[in-house]
Amino acid sequence: MKVLQVGAEVFPLIKTGGLADVMDALPQALRAQGADVRLLLPGLPAILDAVLHAKCVKRIGPVFGAGQVKLLLGQTPFSQLPVYVIDAPFLFRRDGGPYQDRNGAEWPDNLQRFGLLGWVAAQLAQGELVADWAPDVLHAHDWHAAMSCAYLHAHPGGDVASVFTVHNLAYQGLFPSADCALLGLSSRYMSPSSLEFHGQVSFMKAGLKFADRVTTVSPTYAREMATPEFGAGLEGVIRGRGGEVSGILNGIDTLVWNPATDSALAQRYSADQLQGKALCKAALQARFGLTPDPEAPLLAQVSRLASQKGLDLLLSVVPEIVRMGGQLVVQGTGDPALEAAFRKAESAHPGRVGVRLKYDETGAHRTIAGADMMLMPSRFEPCGLTQMYGLRYGSVPIVRRVGGLADTVRDAGSVVDFKSDGNGFVFDQPQAQQLQDTIARAFAAYRQPQAWSLLMRSGMQQDLSWDGPARQYMMLYERVSSEKRATEFRETD
Ligand code: ADP
Ligand code: GLC
Repeated sequence: MKVLQVGAEVFPLIKTGGLADVMDALPQALRAQGADVRLLLPGLPAILDAVLHAKCVKRIGPVFGAGQVKLLLGQTPFSQLPVYVIDAPFLFRRDGGPYQDRNGAEWPDNLQRFGLLGWVAAQLAQGELVADWAPDVLHAHDWHAAMSCAYLHAHPGGDVASVFTVHNLAYQGLFPSADCALLGLSSRYMSPSSLEFHGQVSFMKAGLKFADRVTTVSPTYAREMATPEFGAGLEGVIRGRGGEVSGILNGIDTLVWNPATDSALAQRYSADQLQGKALCKAALQARFGLTPDPEAPLLAQVSRLASQKGLDLLLSVVPEIVRMGGQLVVQGTGDPALEAAFRKAESAHPGRVGVRLKYDETGAHRTIAGADMMLMPSRFEPCGLTQMYGLRYGSVPIVRRVGGLADTVRDAGSVVDFKSDGNGFVFDQPQAQQLQDTIARAFAAYRQPQAWSLLMRSGMQQDLSWDGPARQYMMLYERVSSEKRATEFRETD
């Protein structure tokens, strides 16, 4: 099975969220299942700098206003997977983020940038650019890669099948309809049954409409996406695909996230040797300027500071967390209003609340290891990786029952009614009172050391690896690619 994975970010080269972790770990897990996997990435500076042994395999004439474009083939530095990189200096070689400039404004030419990514993906998948490798399946991730599915549809040829994975419907890649002409597609693609979304062009819709199969990153989010509450206006399109939409839960990279080998930690630990975790907690309290207190339940949130993450709920329960004897650390960047609110909470509760408004990968490992509990009170959460990192590090998750959080965290009940199959604490409604009551239940359990260590161990021993999910993707690829071949065969018959 030959698979081309197409996306805009990959850990550790460029990362704005969990998508990068998936783009790194899923291809490796597929390779372990015997797949011949290659990646296709945009030539952002961090990617060009890191890719090993890059050679130009094709020069592409001026496209998307990019001038000359080179298609490079190299190797990812750590996983050593073959990777194609689109070197289009005019579109990709610039300082700032993958989607936004340094001030947080969207790049004005994102339509061309990610139009190019989709176009090259489709051409490569159809064997138009290189002669010696073409995939059976093109797997596109999120709106950045979604146009590949529209280009395959517009220029059918070959028997490559396409799979589109939605990581987050909140980011759709919407552009003015006047710019649609730049995509080089016929005008029939600018209609509501195609790419048009309320008068704009939607890249997300290209994936949802034209991929042979649509997946998302948890079974619960697959159901939620089809509802007005979570569908972000695309629920009708998603429902229209019927049984061709499914959810495959993400795994985590259990080598990168392993407290027994993690060199970032003050001391390593495991389910059988938990002592080191206390040292990690003390180090975390010191790092965030909290009162050294081994007994205080220490809550942590590591996340983008975005409305998705339910941080308004967390902010309203901060005084109660402190009143109950807890401590809180928050590591994240994003919405300036949320950043300011957390700064304010920190100064209101010195020694009890610590905040770090920065993106820091090593810091994330230390925070997750040092915490007793990880918070994820998300309003919606397609999958969520941080709660799984928490489970792996014995930091018990407290989450809202939504999306992938509902699929990975099982409520442990209360001290009087302890559920042995629980691995965390779960609440239903996005209400501060429910979050507060759930934190109170967790604190009560924390004060029962035996029950607590059972809870920690049950999470730490869980199989959160990519093995199972990668097998599910392999089955999906087999199915969709044999269906595609059968259709091609009928059509050419
Ligand atoms: P999302 O993709 O919606 O941001 P996930 O839970 O799937 O949510 O993934 C978030 C990823 O980003 C995790 O790997 C998490 O550790 C990381 N992360 C988020 N904020 C920070 C930060 N401030 N510093 C370091 N890592 C962060
Ligand atoms: C998105 C989602 C997150 C998911 C991640 C990786 O960023 O917000 O829930 O875990 O993608 O699939």
